Amino acid sequence: MTAFEVRDLRVYYGDKEALKGITLNIPEKEITTIIGPSGCGKSTFLRCLNLMIKEIPYARTEGEVIFDGENVLEYEDEADIIAHRRRVGTVFQHPNPFPWMSIYDNVAYGLRLMGMDEDEIEDRVYEALEKAALLDQVEDRLDDPASALSGGQQQRLCIARALAMRPEVLLMDEPTSDLDPIATRKIEETVMELKGEVTIVFVTHLLPQAYRIGDYTAFFLHGELVEANDTEKLFTDPQDERTKEYIEVEFGPS
Ligand SMILES: Nc1ncnc2c1ncn2[C@@H]1O[C@H](COP(=O)(O)OP(=O)(O)OP(=O)(O)O)[C@@H](O)[C@H]1O
Ligand SMILES: [Mg+2]
Repeated sequence: MTAFEVRDLRVYYGDKEALKGITLNIPEKEITTIIGPSGCGKSTFLRCLNLMIKEIPYARTEGEVIFDGENVLEYEDEADIIAHRRRVGTVFQHPNPFPWMSIYDNVAYGLRLMGMDEDEIEDRVYEALEKAALLDQVEDRLDDPASALSGGQQQRLCIARALAMRPEVLLMDEPTSDLDPIATRKIEETVMELKGEVTIVFVTHLLPQAYRIGDYTAFFLHGELVEANDTEKLFTDPQDERTKEYIEVEFGPS
């Protein structure tokens, strides 16, 4: 099953073509990792899946991003765009909780905006904190400000905030780049626990990370998709010379 069908996607920032015709299916409820050097278009690709690209006035798209049978790039109505973003959550590179808001309120925030009643919100907050593997550490201090948490915990809080909306897809753009190796591994474990339940698209420039957690991996270079395959296959038997070269440089020749 496919969560997103991307067809000949092109993105221009002004005159600059940042994505040059990407065609890629994102498998449902698996972890897709996206790798490639800085500037190859990974974040731009995610921006097309969550429609953040529409917030950049000088950006223009061509092609199709099909989700649940509709080309979401054609959405013009703010209500349609917001509804789409509820189904497709995003966690960014730098943890960005609302720092002076309590831990609890950070997770409840989006649900309150939806007008959900407080009893249901409470259930969802606990569920989301549990899934983000943060509940044990914060249960007795839910009223503390988010800024009292460590960097790794703040990133988990952002994951919980996204999960509270019960998204079908979770986009993660280098979510561990600010974190130490232990916090990184913990986030990876959390992400792996979520598969089977949520579709995950995880951008990373760390190849060992992409290899550890990915089921499916896409390699981008200069705005093009060079190769996409099952993760194991892409790393052990790349079909394209450019993939082979990139993996050798990063992992060392095998
Ligand atoms: N908001 C923007 N305005 C103009 N150009 C942009 C914008 N965002 C990205 N670009 C350009 O588009 C290309 C792709 O950038 P993008 O951020 O998608 O790459 P990336 O693969 O995520 O890189 P990194 O690994 O450094 O995060 C780059 O050449 C970049 O300079
Ligand atoms: Mg990026």
